[in-house]
Amino acid sequence: MGNTHIGSVDSLKLTVLIENSPGYDTYLEGCFGLSLWLELRSGDTCKRVLFDVGPRADSLFRNAEMLGVDLNTVDMILLSHCHFDHTAALAGLLDKLGRPMPVFGHPDIFRPNFVLKPEFMDYSMCGQNGRQSLEARGACLVLTKSPVEPFPGLMLTGEVEHTTAFEESGGVSCLTIDGEGNMVPDRLKDDMSVLVSVRDVGVIVLSGCGHAGIVNIVTQCTRLSGGQSVAGIIGGFHLLQAPIERTDQTIQSFRKHAPGLSFIAPMHCTGLRPSARMAEAYGEAFRELHAGDSVTFTANP
Ligand SMILES: [Fe+2]
Ligand SMILES: [Fe+2]
Repeated sequence: MGNTHIGSVDSLKLTVLIENSPGYDTYLEGCFGLSLWLELRSGDTCKRVLFDVGPRADSLFRNAEMLGVDLNTVDMILLSHCHFDHTAALAGLLDKLGRPMPVFGHPDIFRPNFVLKPEFMDYSMCGQNGRQSLEARGACLVLTKSPVEPFPGLMLTGEVEHTTAFEESGGVSCLTIDGEGNMVPDRLKDDMSVLVSVRDVGVIVLSGCGHAGIVNIVTQCTRLSGGQSVAGIIGGFHLLQAPIERTDQTIQSFRKHAPGLSFIAPMHCTGLRPSARMAEAYGEAFRELHAGDSVTFTANP
């Protein structure tokens, strides 16, 4: 994978529609999952993008309405990976929209995916969120392992290259079914992230669950941006089951690969202790983001 020339936007406004917790002093619903509403402006153009949709359509609709976000104006939906906490609201959302809608994701997104411990739990896109059902509801699927830039300055990373040895431990214990019908560990290769290049600001990295390893993700985003500096890292870092040493190694790697980092918001599946460690390390640059919170990154006037 070589460097890619990426465009840029004048501003990115991000609003958290779904997260595990509601923001302070709000009456929004918190529910296990993630959905980010992105408004990207370039000149007179504004694109509205949903990065993940969360697990429940009714919660998504309710929070969006309370926040004054008109979901009907969405231009495209990007899915980070198959897990239900990021995708299960999709069928209900497509029904509400009632029109064809581009939906980007990895080609393996409809495979079986489940855990057996502590009990069986299906994490996959199935039932009304299966492929045929979604297409019948208007999903125009764009399934790709390669990076794609659906709007200049907005890029989906494609499959993330694993370049960081210490990130191979402490992930989730998901299983899948291989081509011969055997139950095998699922390495969640479908985990893709988003990068937005904001003029004068740098790259903002948005991670869904971070299964690919947040350092791998940041490294890939830097590469895809042609070496621009990373200004923000936002989303799930998936460190809650990892040894705390991995968090310390993650912070060290951020210092190396994202020395200009001015905004870091670990969310959703990062875990309390890893988040606290990052809050300590990053001081003012650390931000809590929950349902209802928003942040804007803007180019110099
Ligand atoms: Fe998740
Ligand atoms: Fe996940």
